[in-house]
Amino acid sequence: MERIKNKKVIIIIAVVLVVLIIGTIIGFKTYNYLKSNKYKLKKLGYNEKEISTVLKMDKEKLETILSLEYNEHIIPLFQEKYFILSNLNKYLNYKDKNKKVDYNEVVTLINVGADKDWYEEPIKTDMSKEYLILVNKYNYLEEGYKPDDLVNMGLQFAFQGKQIRSEVYEAFKKLVKTAKLENLTIVANSTFRTYEYQNGLYNRYKNDYGKEYADNYAARPGYSEHQTGLSIDVSTLSSTMDNFEQTEEFNWLQEHAHEYGFILRYPKDKEHITGYKYESWHYRYVGIETATKIHELGITFDEYYAYFLEK
Ligand code: DAL
Ligand code: ZN
Repeated sequence: MERIKNKKVIIIIAVVLVVLIIGTIIGFKTYNYLKSNKYKLKKLGYNEKEISTVLKMDKEKLETILSLEYNEHIIPLFQEKYFILSNLNKYLNYKDKNKKVDYNEVVTLINVGADKDWYEEPIKTDMSKEYLILVNKYNYLEEGYKPDDLVNMGLQFAFQGKQIRSEVYEAFKKLVKTAKLENLTIVANSTFRTYEYQNGLYNRYKNDYGKEYADNYAARPGYSEHQTGLSIDVSTLSSTMDNFEQTEEFNWLQEHAHEYGFILRYPKDKEHITGYKYESWHYRYVGIETATKIHELGITFDEYYAYFLEK
């Protein structure tokens, strides 16, 4: 009798213990789940697929997403290569108003400021960027700006009377000499231009062809890269700027310009980013390291600047 009673007690204790252990495990798991990012994301309204995508993101992105209300555009935007967190609200607003524009385009346009009209809210460019200063339809140079290290270019490298910053000249000379070894002749035909010169040039375009045309082809004074002394329009001895694209020299530059620190500044199909028609002849000096990165990434200088220099 006594033995049966003891057995019963042991069984009860064992059952209670098992229940306690199972309860503790379940309780612990539930507690952990309620505290997990997965649960928090679910509560915000994300579905399973979205949650697994977010959970693979880095800590900063994950925490930011957790701090925001659900929005269907957040995850695709965060996944964009050149996504900049501080631009998030601008991306969302723009996407909301322009539903057909894809995420990549939204990020690009906002990053470079191309959601605004040209010359709408221009800012004085950051001169501390030295050889990497950005001059475009949103960033301008002061009227009186003139580099203090301009040098005269020799006739072997440029048409008469051209000036350029000295480091650019050294790089350009190397480029021209190497191309020459392959019987290619690259000549500079427009280099440093003063504010006043650009003013005359722009107004000539405007008077002859109208404002829209002028803005597509020429920078307004203060907004031209030529005023930086870092840009060179090239041609061969027989080509014009317009047919430069059909020359061997152009093909060579496509492959090698970055090795000397130059980039094609206004590439084909990037008009909506750069603000200018494709210019196969306009090269900008940024130094070998940056030119190589831009060449490899296949982006414009405007995009590079927004993401790598300004962010
Ligand atoms: N044609 C280039 C954009 C300039 O005028 O600076
Ligand atoms: Zn040019």
